Amino acid sequence: MYRPNLMFFVLYFSLECICLSQSDIYSLNYIYTALSKPLELPGIHEFTAMGLMNDKQIDYYDSVAKKKIPKQDWMREKLPADYWDKGTQSRKSKEQWFKVNVDILMKRMRHNNTDVHILQWKHGCEIDQQSDGTLKFIKGTDQYSYDGDDFLAFDDANMQWVAPVVQAQPTKRKWDGVQILNQYTKGYLEKECVDWLSKFMKYEDKEFNRADSPPRVYEFAKKAKTAGHVRLTCMATGFYPKDVIMQIKKNGVPLTERDGVHSTGVLPNDDDTYQIRMSVQIPEADKETYECYVDHRTLKKPIVVKWDGECCDCSSGTAVVIGAVIAIIVVLILISVVLFVLHKSGTIVIPGLKTTAKYDESRTSSDSDQGSQNAGSSGRGSEEDVKKSMLPQESV
Ligand SMILES: *[C@@H]1O[C@H](CO)[C@@H](O)[C@H](O)[C@H]1NC(C)=O
Repeated sequence: MYRPNLMFFVLYFSLECICLSQSDIYSLNYIYTALSKPLELPGIHEFTAMGLMNDKQIDYYDSVAKKKIPKQDWMREKLPADYWDKGTQSRKSKEQWFKVNVDILMKRMRHNNTDVHILQWKHGCEIDQQSDGTLKFIKGTDQYSYDGDDFLAFDDANMQWVAPVVQAQPTKRKWDGVQILNQYTKGYLEKECVDWLSKFMKYEDKEFNRADSPPRVYEFAKKAKTAGHVRLTCMATGFYPKDVIMQIKKNGVPLTERDGVHSTGVLPNDDDTYQIRMSVQIPEADKETYECYVDHRTLKKPIVVKWDGECCDCSSGTAVVIGAVIAIIVVLILISVVLFVLHKSGTIVIPGLKTTAKYDESRTSSDSDQGSQNAGSSGRGSEEDVKKSMLPQESV
């Protein structure tokens, strides 16, 4: 029997608050992937390279386009043409370095040209932003893998290479033999990479002009159109940035579109945050465990809200009132979203609400100049340059 329970909502609010501590870890990584020969597959290239900030792609290069390009609007707007020109040159020389070295490694591994072999390099840094705004270096990564297995990794603390496979020993000896290279690698990871990351963080912040905000998550069920069924809805709102993962899980297993899950997709709220709703129709008597799972970069761990098996409007009385209140709230939100979207797109004008320009031209250009100077004076891109380009003989 349904018993209206307002505590149900109150409880969720308090549960969320426990999970809402902000994560202040930021990372900048570069990943290069080289194949020993081209694969005739769409989108797979002999050489690809990309930059990732907080695991989100910020730039891209491949051996077909042969051009380093921005993958985020703020990268495009804030970094000068010079940054992309130098980056393109640097990526081209890395492409050559990989071509030479994947061959060397194949010989060393006694692999022939029958199968495709893969050499990968990943380097980058992770930092923690303290509450006073200062940045603390956490760790640097610089590692090579061959055919998906670890080949060589840089031990930043001890400033030396670690070879987990016997075939990597010669490379370790060779590279450790040039201590200045190891000092350079350590310097890149702890200083240069951190400087670029903090610069990118500022660019991204300015672009969006909005602080990260964690989602609030609600789950409720309402009577469905089909008799004897309820529609279970999971809603997350108030989050920023817009990347979010939401799943409705049945007995711990995510339901998909094939199970009839409908998603609204990520929609804008009028305060520049976002919302998303997913729903699925299930038999009213279904006694399986349903939960709503939401992950967002502001969360230390995902929010999981378990459905208590109760339906808001399946019985009469207070239940209907609560159901109606929820329905009204949902409708109000929907209306404001629709109005906002229409307003943004210029279809309608809401008095008193100014349409926000996409970005401030004057601000953008002055920052771009600043960036240009910095990038120019440093003389290097945001990525570590291959040993090869520093010391031409330096192969694996
Ligand atoms: C290449 O290596 C594979 C696997 O080791 C082997 O079966 C094949 O005969 C080799 N091919 C040539 C041309 O040597």
